[in-house]
Amino acid sequence: MKCGGGEATPVAKMMLRLTLNGRAREDAVADNVLLIDYLREVVGLTGTKMGCDGGECGACTVLIDDEPRLSCITMAHRAAGHRIETIEGAARDGRLSRLQRAFHEYLGSQCGYCTPGMIMAAEGLLRRAPAPSTAEIRDGLSANICRCTGYTKIIEAVHAAAAAGDTP
Ligand code: FES
Ligand code: FES
Repeated sequence: MKCGGGEATPVAKMMLRLTLNGRAREDAVADNVLLIDYLREVVGLTGTKMGCDGGECGACTVLIDDEPRLSCITMAHRAAGHRIETIEGAARDGRLSRLQRAFHEYLGSQCGYCTPGMIMAAEGLLRRAPAPSTAEIRDGLSANICRCTGYTKIIEAVHAAAAAGDTP
């Protein structure tokens, strides 16, 4: 016997148009989908990580129009018409970004789970403050939690990336 007495209501889909890592896209996406689920499950970009699922760890950070945003608490349709950048867009022409290189060189990653979110948050910071102080780096990364590194290496990596200047 069937419980609940009926068919599930189909979820309405809307066309989502945005620019993702420099490329225009449009996808039919249910209007209740979170940005992180759109990125990971619709587009297949799994570099953006789900940590706390509640806006508290920063693992899911992406850039929306150059500003770090938590994709686990952002509806996908809020990104319509905007420029979205994820960790997959950081390297260009097979060359790691200055932040990716610095995180590697300064051991800013250990387990690496927080790293995509850290790098996107740091990228947003360097775009608005090209030569940040240590206090500004701490503040810029204050929404991002790392359980491995103790933050010292991450801060050194961001300083090194800033010193590298505006190189790709
Ligand atoms: S997964 Fe988004 S803030 Fe933790
Ligand atoms: S490197 Fe493991 S959580 Fe940051």
